[in-house]
Amino acid sequence: MVKGKITLDYLRNKKNTGHKITMMTAYDYSSARLVDEAGIDVVLVGDSLGMVVLGYDSTVPVTMDEMVHHLKAVSRGVKNSFIIGDMPFMSYHVSREKAVENAGRFIKEGRCDAVKIEGGSKMAPIVQAVVDVGIPVCGHIGLTPQTATMLSGFKVQGQDKDSASELLTFARDIEDAGAFMIVMECIPDLLAKRIAEEVSIPAIGIGAGADCDGQVLVYHDVLGLFERFTPKFVKRYADLAPVIKEALIRYRNDVETGSFPGPEHCFHMKSDDVDKI
Ligand code: KIV
Repeated sequence: MVKGKITLDYLRNKKNTGHKITMMTAYDYSSARLVDEAGIDVVLVGDSLGMVVLGYDSTVPVTMDEMVHHLKAVSRGVKNSFIIGDMPFMSYHVSREKAVENAGRFIKEGRCDAVKIEGGSKMAPIVQAVVDVGIPVCGHIGLTPQTATMLSGFKVQGQDKDSASELLTFARDIEDAGAFMIVMECIPDLLAKRIAEEVSIPAIGIGAGADCDGQVLVYHDVLGLFERFTPKFVKRYADLAPVIKEALIRYRNDVETGSFPGPEHCFHMKSDDVDKI
């Protein structure tokens, strides 16, 4: 399907007409091109890059400069997908001014279309400040990895009545603050369905069941490129790590045994000419 550049109207229309929104992370030029060419609506340059690309043990250490560096690469690779840049921990918490300034860097230097901000009702004034300067914001509630310590670790959120109704309030407040979309991570499917029905903005799930307005997953999880762990909610569509490792071992063997490069990989000149050098 040829859609052209994805817009906010296009995403809203998908929700309003019951069509699922597709979203996938990407962190560099080549992966962004593949996601874009696959016709996926939204590319999220997630701070998950801290774990799957940079090798940190969480998303907390990721810096603005690291995010901007990867955003630039992704935006060079994308033609049509809508690009969301994930604001890293402490880039939007200190003040509204700092949040606006950093969101502005994402748009001006990283060339993304929107930013994502983790957190519930307390983040609503920050979301509003960024939206007020004309930068679209995607919220993120439920399991918020940047503040997972406060949640006592990486676990399902909103499983009892009180925490579920708190999450519903968070979603409403983030929508009221002007967000155009909200990500719901690791929450029960019935709660996600309720939130998606309740808010008028697209509510995208990751570990939030089938009744969301769309789904997002991490590129490396989907393709089997990250072997440290795989969350329960991930569906693997390929198992590329063993394929890549096998290819690398064959390359190593070919170099060690002298069977690479072959004549077809070499540039040739006449041996007479060599003798004249
Ligand atoms: O950083 C990320 O990849 C995310 C998704 C898991 C939603 O925030």
